[in-house]
Amino acid sequence: MGMKRDAVIYVAGHAGLIGSALVRRLERDGYRSPITRRRNELDLQDTRAVNEFFEEVHPEYVMLAAGRVGGIMENQSFPADFMDENVAIQLNVLKAARKTGVRRLILFGSSCMYPRECSQPMAETALLSGNPEPTSLPYAVSKLLGTYMCLAYNKQDHDVRFIPVIPNSAYGPHDNFDPKSAHVLSALLARFHEAKLTGAESVGLWGSGSPRREFVHADDIADACVHLLAEEDLTVEFPINIGIGQDVSIKELAELIAGVVGYRGELNWDSTKPDGAPRKLLDSARIRSLGWKPSIGLREGLTETYRWYGEHLKAVRAPMHVEQR
Ligand SMILES: NC(=O)c1ccc[n+]([C@@H]2O[C@H](COP(=O)([O-])OP(=O)(O)OC[C@H]3O[C@@H](n4cnc5c(N)ncnc54)[C@H](OP(=O)(O)O)[C@@H]3O)[C@@H](O)[C@H]2O)c1
Repeated sequence: MGMKRDAVIYVAGHAGLIGSALVRRLERDGYRSPITRRRNELDLQDTRAVNEFFEEVHPEYVMLAAGRVGGIMENQSFPADFMDENVAIQLNVLKAARKTGVRRLILFGSSCMYPRECSQPMAETALLSGNPEPTSLPYAVSKLLGTYMCLAYNKQDHDVRFIPVIPNSAYGPHDNFDPKSAHVLSALLARFHEAKLTGAESVGLWGSGSPRREFVHADDIADACVHLLAEEDLTVEFPINIGIGQDVSIKELAELIAGVVGYRGELNWDSTKPDGAPRKLLDSARIRSLGWKPSIGLREGLTETYRWYGEHLKAVRAPMHVEQR
């Protein structure tokens, strides 16, 4: 099949971390500028608006990077919103895409979908073999729904149009740096930056620091997705993991970020706070076998992300931006 350079591509969630990386990647590779809409122009929870949009625009390719995303605290405070929003967005977009005959759609699942006690690295075949980590259960269940809808559509339609992917923890430009709702990496980066500026002697951190995580730069995720869209003869019996094949402990990550930021104070770990799953390393053998590999190392990616954060500090802190996430 291949994806033509003038194909009509819709990137949903283009202002977010992964969506913005997808747009950068497509433009860099000479594809026609993708179609994009902010949430205030097209609310993907609105079924009628989504149907009208698909019927009018007829995208050939869709990258569904819109959704409700957040860290442990957000998941615990807003479980109903995580379910409602993600289920509605996925249901609306997948149904409209199927009805209007998109050629291929990428849906972003999450490593939270894997069982808490999953053997490591986590292979795609291990999905649904146990219960996900309770602190992110609503998010995980909502993402499992979208993922298995894709597989069901492919099966019933005898086609490979819906490609669910599972990137591990993403980071990069346009990440959410609000410490109240951010994921661990961007929250640490923002907190150490603040601590450096105020000359704080120590920073208090949640958990023991012992869980291990795998971080993938959003540009690597985008690269993998464009690779999959263009791949001929793809089979999709399971979703496809996207990882770099290496993990770090949260403690190692914190020390690495403190180094990149230049914060020299103490890090105080509060092990009475929940840690989340002990380890989340993806088995990315499948995507490797399709000829893709990551190209951005963690230190290099952190340095570049911190540079972006410094340049966009005013914008990322604007209340509008925080409300819209
Ligand atoms: N971040 C990660 O570590 C990670 C890892 C694996 C998978 N994923 C998945 O990848 C996808 C993108 O994640 P991300 O981190 O890039 O998210 P993000 O930075 O929070 O961006 C999400 C985008 O979704 C849009 N959005 C949310 N609700 C919407 C609605 N009702 N209608 C239209 N647009 C809406 C927002 O648009 P506006 O800006 O216009 O409001 C926002 O730009 C999500 O599905 C997430 O579950 C993320």
